[in-house]
Amino acid sequence: MSGSSQRFLVRPSGPLRGELRVPGDKSISHRAVMLGALADGITTIEGFLPGEDCLATRRAFEAMDVACEETSETGMRIHGVGLYGLSEPSAPLDLGNSGTSMRLLLGLLAGQEFSSTLIGDASLSRRPMRRVTEPLARMGAQIETTEAGTAPLHIRGGQRLHGASYELSVASAQVKSALLLAGLYAQEPTIVNEPGISRDHTERMLASFGVDVPVSGLSCRVRGGQRLKATTIEVPADLSSAAFPVVAALMAPGSDILLPGVGVNPSRAGILKILEMMGAQISLLNVRAAGAEPIADLHVVAGPLHGVDVPPALVPLAIDEFPALLVAAAMASGVTRITGAAELRVKESDRISAMASGLEAVGVRVEEAADGITVHGGGVRGGIVDALGDHRIAMSFAALGAVAPEGIEIVDVANVQTSFPGFVGAMAGLGLNIEQSA
Ligand code: S3P
Repeated sequence: MSGSSQRFLVRPSGPLRGELRVPGDKSISHRAVMLGALADGITTIEGFLPGEDCLATRRAFEAMDVACEETSETGMRIHGVGLYGLSEPSAPLDLGNSGTSMRLLLGLLAGQEFSSTLIGDASLSRRPMRRVTEPLARMGAQIETTEAGTAPLHIRGGQRLHGASYELSVASAQVKSALLLAGLYAQEPTIVNEPGISRDHTERMLASFGVDVPVSGLSCRVRGGQRLKATTIEVPADLSSAAFPVVAALMAPGSDILLPGVGVNPSRAGILKILEMMGAQISLLNVRAAGAEPIADLHVVAGPLHGVDVPPALVPLAIDEFPALLVAAAMASGVTRITGAAELRVKESDRISAMASGLEAVGVRVEEAADGITVHGGGVRGGIVDALGDHRIAMSFAALGAVAPEGIEIVDVANVQTSFPGFVGAMAGLGLNIEQSA
């Protein structure tokens, strides 16, 4: 979706200082609601992200008669209805801006006795769904899309799903997870083979719910009919949201910040590796486990960065962090090149084009390619940037505003609510000179 009138105005800021607990992990919050709903018993979630995307998932399950009880701002109890206990929703399930909700629900709903319809906002209604509907069709699912392979999606219930062995053409946790969820309802085992590493939260969380999901290298499998046992999920702070204060602190001279309890799952931590290659000083303190996920306190100190050629193997491990990495590249010395990242064109916006236009608008030289972008670093001037309704584009340019001599005004930022409610207050608390206007 695009066109909200909300904007950020960010002026050059002093050093960023202090401690910030960034909101809960979006990917893990979605999965906690989904698996909690399918479990037998009551699942307790701590650290849930009350952002619009995860609330869309919650509302979808409430519409299928799953009780989701708030115990605090970020605490929830999900009254699981068991693998076969969801009820038919009386209206289409509106998933707003959330690709993860739509793709994972496709897999889960393909195995239900009832039919359902999934819809979303303008951005979500442009995103490709055949990457999920085609493999699901091979398992016996019946799903109708538009001619372009997009939402609205009609899922016909009462289909018998067969297990399948599927080779994904891109490393995608959303596709893998959709197939694993459908696999819970299939007659034979479902095997998913990926061409590269993608985030493994679904596999880890299914295991926490007592489901046997053997993983071997880039292959995972699940047997159908396994019951999920309710559990407690402690959601880490979201590394993808931490990326914005991290890059702002790296760029703004004299900064020194601490971000406690951030998820550092190796299948997600590409940004830390890439920033380290660029010369960043980020220490992982007090590395520990939050349930099935590793977490750490991130200590970030400002310092000079230099451009790098990002190894394509790291791309899926940092897929959501490229907007943040690209603003860091603009302030780095030398050139940063990203290749093998065509997936960025089908995120909440076309992130290659959105970042290229935004960086040019604030005085940075860039070259756009079909599958990546080259950024000539060395500093920014400032100006007006259109976030195109994409939360991560908005927050990346807000971070860059800290060091833009003329400041940066960012338009169409309302969707920051999808993943980082309280962003403005949180960043202002660290010392970013940021205001929001309607
Ligand atoms: C996600 C997987 C990624 C990521 C998205 C969240 C998930 O998408 O970009 O923001 O929670 O599984 P792909 O699996 O399509 O790469």
